[in-house]
Amino acid sequence: MSKSPIIAPSILNSDFTKLGESIIMLNESKADWIHLDVMDGSFVPNISFGIPVIKDIRKYTEKHLDVHLMIVRPDDHLEAFIQAGADTITVHIEACNHLHRTLEAIHKLGAKAGVAINPHTPVEVVKDILEIADVFLIMSVNPGFGGQKFIYQTIPKIRRLKQMLMQENSKAVIEIDGGVGLQNAESILQAGADALVVGNAIFADAHPKAVIEKLKQINPQPIFA
Ligand code: DX5
Ligand code: ZN
Repeated sequence: MSKSPIIAPSILNSDFTKLGESIIMLNESKADWIHLDVMDGSFVPNISFGIPVIKDIRKYTEKHLDVHLMIVRPDDHLEAFIQAGADTITVHIEACNHLHRTLEAIHKLGAKAGVAINPHTPVEVVKDILEIADVFLIMSVNPGFGGQKFIYQTIPKIRRLKQMLMQENSKAVIEIDGGVGLQNAESILQAGADALVVGNAIFADAHPKAVIEKLKQINPQPIFA
């Protein structure tokens, strides 16, 4: 049965001098989650924002804070991010030597645990942690910047992951991140995605709330080929 997608706007490409206004706009919108892209200039070639900013955002919103850590050694900072108000912490498999331990640590600290994979990483790599993670985030651009072009090879990866999760009877969320917008949301959801991270397509538009509403209405019957 199809259901309306989880929409997770990414503030990465928003105007940070108006961050409060952006959060209020998202509060008034149909957005389900707020996606927060933390970058350290080491795991990815860009530096964005971190714990103090998330702590302040938390004061302004009740929305689910979906924190995407694009950092090396995420274990060192889990507690601080969760104390700052993160509801989900997603770590990159490429940055974790002991992923099972990291996911358990996130759960122990009281948050949902997500695993992200880069475009070059096959989804099969998550096979033995299917039961542990709450969210599987498939990067559909190389992480580091907003406003990049969607990599279409992501679509078969979504299908493969969906099949793997269905075989395990898992309710984990498949989240797609990078280059998502009104032009490709339907095919991404049809392939089996549950959550869409959308940055530029929302924040570069003159009517961001309307874009969110349109994305929320896209509700195709998933095709699991
Ligand atoms: C990229 C980030 C994404 C990205 C989304 O490293 O993880 O969340 O900023 O923004 P758009 O939709 O502009 O690709
Ligand atoms: Zn992200």
